[in-house]
Amino acid sequence: MNKGLDVVVLAAGKGTRMRSRRPKVLHPLGGQPVLEHVLRAAEALSPQRIAVVVGHGGEDVQATFSGRALTFVDQGEPLGTGHALLAAREAVTAETLLVLPGDVPLLTSHALERLVTEHVRQQVDVSFLTFSPQEPGRYGRVVREEGRVTRIVEAADATVEERSINEVNSGIFCLRNTPALWEHLAGLSTSNAQGEYYLTDLVPAAQGRCHGVPWPYPDQLRGINDRRELALCEAMLQQRLLANLMEAGVTIINPGDTYVELDVTVGEDTILWPGTLLRGLTRIGRDCTVGPHSELVDTQLANGVWVRFSSLEGAWVGPEARIGPFAHLRPGARIGARARVGNFVEIKEASLGEAAKAGHLAYIGDADIGPGANIGAGTVTCNFDGRRKHRTTIGEGAFVGTHASLVAPVSIGAHAVVAAGSVITEDVPPYALALGRSRQVVKHDWVRGREEP
Ligand code: UD1
Ligand code: MG
Repeated sequence: MNKGLDVVVLAAGKGTRMRSRRPKVLHPLGGQPVLEHVLRAAEALSPQRIAVVVGHGGEDVQATFSGRALTFVDQGEPLGTGHALLAAREAVTAETLLVLPGDVPLLTSHALERLVTEHVRQQVDVSFLTFSPQEPGRYGRVVREEGRVTRIVEAADATVEERSINEVNSGIFCLRNTPALWEHLAGLSTSNAQGEYYLTDLVPAAQGRCHGVPWPYPDQLRGINDRRELALCEAMLQQRLLANLMEAGVTIINPGDTYVELDVTVGEDTILWPGTLLRGLTRIGRDCTVGPHSELVDTQLANGVWVRFSSLEGAWVGPEARIGPFAHLRPGARIGARARVGNFVEIKEASLGEAAKAGHLAYIGDADIGPGANIGAGTVTCNFDGRRKHRTTIGEGAFVGTHASLVAPVSIGAHAVVAAGSVITEDVPPYALALGRSRQVVKHDWVRGREEP
């Protein structure tokens, strides 16, 4: 743990430009709230404490991160970034404070380490990361005189000349925690275009004991203030995540048409075809082929699995199994090694044994199916009686003919055969044949008898 360092994350702003009822820092990016990204970068520095300043939608923010080692501070009415930091006064004690805006999610711990190191080395009171984006837009401009930073001017307050400055404030500050810091914050004024207490006004107050640290990767320091910037950050995050996968040996046929979330892992020599979405805690093994057009949520694939045009959620798929096209695996689906799940088959809370097959048009819910069993087209486990769910058990090597209705609770013994079109309401012993349908009637020459003379 870095005992000399406390982090304060500012996450209380209204996020007006998002035009959303949801707090800005809870909008998802790569499947995780914007704030989660910031917290992970902060945690990588092992600070003594992380204080999160909340206000607008603060209860939702706290609920989302409950169980995490964080100190929440309520800013009340958000009156600006300077006011937000002041609210954290009682929560922090370390000698050095790292202040992070909650809306800069692509920041890296690398950049933060650099800032803290420079801050300590230069022995200044205030330091902050700067960057030079192609479009400085609404960012605060960094005003330097003879190389030294003298102030930061917000775009809304800047003159035309100041607006043409390309170096901008990232909002990421490192501060020496002294009584003077809090006095300055308490004494800030709101005489600016936005009528807010600006954290950036600490710069002139530092009277030269201030250092701007340029960071050469502007994309890492982008803020999210509206939906356009949210989409831009998502695109950049996707590039980063997909590049990591490709570096780890994954083939991605069309990165522009592939979406992965933050915690997804994919093994070597797996191929991702276009239209693939890998979400949540999805883990994919080696030598798999996923897509085209498949969504996997919280799903695990062992090695050598094929998934095409399918939707999988909360599923586990064993080695070399084949899924799809057009299969739907729902939570609790467990597919054995080399098993086959074909088109329009839905599986929920059920296991399919090794090399078992459900090739077409079936619903398998709340069932345990043995190795090598064959489930015919149109077979349905009737698992719901209108009030409760019941299980179906099908033994090893059993053969269920097409269009069987298996009314649960019921069990089909190993190697038993269920005739096509049967409605099975009683258990079938191993090796038996069960027929649960009316006998066919053939009326000879019936049609001839109908013919007009
Ligand atoms: C801020 C900086 C700007 C910088 C930019 C970088 C100031 C005055 N401006 O502008 O120089 O270029 O970030 O992205 O600091 N917040 C609170 N309480 C408040 C207001 C804001 O907690 O009362 C939080 C917000 O939730 C947000 C962060 O502080 O996470 C930054 O606030 P925001 O309103 O986005 O400031 P910018 O206009 O982006
Ligand atoms: Mg912002």
